Amino acid sequence: MFPQIFSVALAASLLSPVVLATLPFGHYGGEGTVLFLNGFHFVSGHSDWEISANHHCVILSEDMLQCAVYNTATTPARLAGIEYIITTKAFETLDFEERQLWHSHVYEITSGYLIEPNLPASVDHTIMGDVLIGTYGKTFHTWRYDQQNSSIPMGVPELVMGYTGDDQITPDFVTKRDELFGVNTTEIRESRADIQVPPVLEGADSWKYGFVLSLGLVNETTSTDFPLVK
Ligand SMILES: *[C@@H]1O[C@H](CO)[C@@H](O)[C@H](O)[C@H]1NC(C)=O
Ligand SMILES: *[C@@H]1O[C@H](CO)[C@@H](O)[C@H](O)[C@H]1NC(C)=O
Ligand SMILES: *[C@@H]1O[C@H](CO)[C@@H](O)[C@H](O)[C@H]1NC(C)=O
Repeated sequence: MFPQIFSVALAASLLSPVVLATLPFGHYGGEGTVLFLNGFHFVSGHSDWEISANHHCVILSEDMLQCAVYNTATTPARLAGIEYIITTKAFETLDFEERQLWHSHVYEITSGYLIEPNLPASVDHTIMGDVLIGTYGKTFHTWRYDQQNSSIPMGVPELVMGYTGDDQITPDFVTKRDELFGVNTTEIRESRADIQVPPVLEGADSWKYGFVLSLGLVNETTSTDFPLVK
């Protein structure tokens, strides 16, 4: 049902960038994607719930990127979640509780886990070493399509984290990613060996403190009236 309806609707609604720029309701959201990243997440409290995540990121400000996160190796790609990425400077302004929702990117970068498929090595080095190394990400996944085999997104969003050391991820999981993108994580890791590593600030990677942060439905009994409607 959906495909037929959408093919008609799409033909009527494809707008040129010139038209988009004049739209009073704002851009669609996907335009301006400047960065395509693949990396690994795990569900908070379940380091073995491994996710290969494709990030499509736009720049919101000097201190923040926002990324739509998709799963890999399916067409169309399933929208798996969102990631907000902020600089050290922005992270420093957060209180201790908020910081615990964020993960550091230092190890994701030095390990070679976080990649930008198809970019030249010199560009990779600049983006990773000058831009992303000191950043922190806050990511919620809404659909663990790859793990749950569910054709419908089930349940509530899950807070996910990033790996911070060797021997945390199944080596085979990294190998499969490498094959998919035609990259070699070991070589990428070596090419980044000279990147200056800033300290990870207190609060980030909260699982290391032994805190498992997960979301749950709050189901309260309440009045069904709309008090503002007289
Ligand atoms: C999902 O399917 C794959 C492939 O058939 C299987 O290996 C995996 O165990 C399944 N996962 C779940 C959570 O059912
Ligand atoms: C990846 O690169 C490393 C270091 O050059 C090499 O030892 C390894 O065999 C490579 N792996 C693959 C699958 O090509
Ligand atoms: C919320 O609680 C009510 C009352 O116990 C229950 O009937 C309902 O199914 C619950 N909803 C969810 C989503 O858990």
